[in-house]
Amino acid sequence: MLKRISTAVFAVLLAASGFLGGAQTVPPSSASYLSEQPVRARHGMVVSIHHLAADAGVSILSQGGNAVDAAVATGFALAVVYPGAGNLGGGGFLLLRTHDGKSTFIDFREAAPLAATANMYLDATGNVIPDSSVIGYRSIATPGSVAGLVYAEKKYGRLGLKRVTAPAIRLARQGFVLTEEEAKLLSDRDLARFPDSKRIFQRDGQLYKTGETFRQPELARTLERIAAKPDDLYRGAMARELVDALKSGGSLITLEDLARYRVVERAPVTGTFLNYTVLSAPPPSSGGIILLSALNMLEGYDLNSLGDRSPQSIHLVTEAFRRAYMDRGDYLGDPDFNTIPTAALISKQYAAAWRATIDPYRATTSATLARPPNFLPPPPANAGQYRDPVNTTHYSVVDKDGDAVAVTTTLNDSFGSRVTAGHLGFLLNDEMDDFAAKPGTANLYGLIQGPANAIAPLKRPLSTMTPTIVLEDGQLRFVLGSPGGSRIATTVANIFLSAAVGGLNIQQAVDAPRFHHQFLPDKLSVESGLPAATLDALRGMGYTLDQRDRWSNGECIEVDPKTGELLGGQDHRSLFGKAAGY
Ligand code: DON
Repeated sequence: MLKRISTAVFAVLLAASGFLGGAQTVPPSSASYLSEQPVRARHGMVVSIHHLAADAGVSILSQGGNAVDAAVATGFALAVVYPGAGNLGGGGFLLLRTHDGKSTFIDFREAAPLAATANMYLDATGNVIPDSSVIGYRSIATPGSVAGLVYAEKKYGRLGLKRVTAPAIRLARQGFVLTEEEAKLLSDRDLARFPDSKRIFQRDGQLYKTGETFRQPELARTLERIAAKPDDLYRGAMARELVDALKSGGSLITLEDLARYRVVERAPVTGTFLNYTVLSAPPPSSGGIILLSALNMLEGYDLNSLGDRSPQSIHLVTEAFRRAYMDRGDYLGDPDFNTIPTAALISKQYAAAWRATIDPYRATTSATLARPPNFLPPPPANAGQYRDPVNTTHYSVVDKDGDAVAVTTTLNDSFGSRVTAGHLGFLLNDEMDDFAAKPGTANLYGLIQGPANAIAPLKRPLSTMTPTIVLEDGQLRFVLGSPGGSRIATTVANIFLSAAVGGLNIQQAVDAPRFHHQFLPDKLSVESGLPAATLDALRGMGYTLDQRDRWSNGECIEVDPKTGELLGGQDHRSLFGKAAGY
């Protein structure tokens, strides 16, 4: 009989009966994040993992710059003050929504070099060569960040490149004082494998210490050259210098790769959740589709009455994640190389069919999970796997007109490939690792990916970056995003659900412990901080838990619907960030 009751009604009944909302529910009131309050500002705000980058953005806002000017200034500043993930040599996505209701998504994701081949990371016996797509020259994809920031500034900015690069140039030339956390980050062992990286970031072996000033004169010069001649890194003298620096180490990137690199403007993926409208990242990111597909499934439950982070709520959200990631692996890749059934993947009907496969009492087993038939074309055969890189950065901006920008940018791993572009002074990505190096084979870390994400010349590797803007009843309500590798989309979902239906303010939602499931491996990852009783209850439902320490920084903004104030949720997992407002 239970099966005949809709799962939505069923969940509500269970909550009301006390089964889901009763004895197993752990009151969240003991958790320290619940005492947190957001930073408030009236006119404009920038939230970033680095205080100097946030300040750079706000200084641009207060000079009359718009949200794009501030975002570009923050992006260039992050390339100076947060070299682990802020970058010139990586890529990213910028989601813009202006107060008149227009939106666009600027894709400056890296692209595979022309000489890349499907099997370039396999040895003669067909096995993946360890680390070959992760560290060093062959892991580098053609970078998109400078092209993307320049494009955004030219088309949507107001102040011009010279003014928005000024804070970054100053920070690079004058330097900035390192905190303990930042000094420790610069001691990354793999940086020492590359002479220019060791020279710049580790002072040739005399590692930077807390309180010392870190100056980057070569990077300052590169930024000045970009400001003076924005295309030079792709089609001019700097392009030649970059290719020369990379060729010596065996990189595949040529002058033609740089000249052919294009920023692509795409329509954001859009959907609804209750009275919210969610704008997020389309392919070549999987983030928006995962987020919308999970939210569609979850719309059928009364998560609010189940309680934020109750075992019951975690269970239902996890099952939605599991199903959305199954689809990620089979269907998603660069849309310019694949036909992606986006509309079907984020349709309410498909989500309802998925929802009907969720057992409200028990974890599903990924190995036996069957996709609802008749909604999607058969997936391409073969599936590959994915590891879990460790750095990226997200920043959120709102200006005085209510224009909003969400940017997520990355080198992939912390410090990317660890290769510095000689005297140009910036690090290059290892984004080639986001492709499926060998579709159909399991590796250590386990996110399934199919031939849609196989390596091909000029193709963009599938991302999970999820810059997101949410409206409530048509008004700007949230600007969201996070790093976290394969966990980015679920991190954004965690934050959004806590703030939208869990009753948390944006600061609490950002700081609250997170959970993640990605279909395979069939484990529920939980961040430390969830109560032991919650973990026990989840084990009791059949979950294998993968307990992890600190996850990465979500940097988000909420608009107070009553007062219009901007509320900054700057992630307290790192100590050097800031929600800067005015
Ligand atoms: O594009 C992606 O999805 C990955 N390259 C992001 C890597 C990442 O977030 C690592 N950070 N924590």
